[in-house]
Amino acid sequence: MLIAANWKMHKTGRETVRFCRELRDRLAKLDAGVEVVVCPAYTSLDEAVEALFGTQIGVFAQNVHWEDHGAYTGEISAGMLVEIGVTGTLVSHSERRQLFGETDETAAKRVEAALKARLRTIACVGETDAEREAGEAEAVLERQVKAIRAVVPKGGTDLLTIAYEPVWAIGTGKTATPEQAEEAHAFIRKLLDVPVLYGGSVKPGNAAELFERAHVEGALVGGASLETDSFGAICEAAAAVPS
Ligand code: PGA
Repeated sequence: MLIAANWKMHKTGRETVRFCRELRDRLAKLDAGVEVVVCPAYTSLDEAVEALFGTQIGVFAQNVHWEDHGAYTGEISAGMLVEIGVTGTLVSHSERRQLFGETDETAAKRVEAALKARLRTIACVGETDAEREAGEAEAVLERQVKAIRAVVPKGGTDLLTIAYEPVWAIGTGKTATPEQAEEAHAFIRKLLDVPVLYGGSVKPGNAAELFERAHVEGALVGGASLETDSFGAICEAAAAVPS
């Protein structure tokens, strides 16, 4: 089970350090079967790595560029992340797709570069409300997952995780039902055999019922990851699921 905190554009370096210390203390006795990572803003990655050094909690970035270096103002490469001790990254979050022009093609290039740099990679997929209403959810997932699958080297799936994040459930308080999540995860799993996390309004109150589903192998948590109490409770709910 993998539980990842996606902080988006929240928390300064100082706030990051405070959170990481609290989380470290809270999760000191967490079951070893649960892996926890935080994904701070670029400016706080360094501080998070330092604050969590020697703990079981990992630090991932929220995005990565596909080139090693070059004239790409405002971008960050995989090598830059690796050098400061970051061990993974999110890719193709729906906010990147919707607000910053991420396409299946650019998502695939990022996944390819991240895997090549040996970064753990959580690639996000998910349909919008309109797509689900139109009965296109599976077609959208298939297109998104196949674009990612095309760049995964043979035998190179060990570093890859998919996050199923229905866009209609992100930050809306509207969570997919465990049945909807299970169905989408099983569908994704048939296309690409890697662990699948669920994301979209995961909270302490609904985490356990999601984690009980066989195909839900963790969560990508936004809003509820900003406080140690709620994020800690979600990690504990994951630890309580019999493996
Ligand atoms: P949310 O965000 O938990 O606030 O819905 C999840 C995400 O965007 O990864």
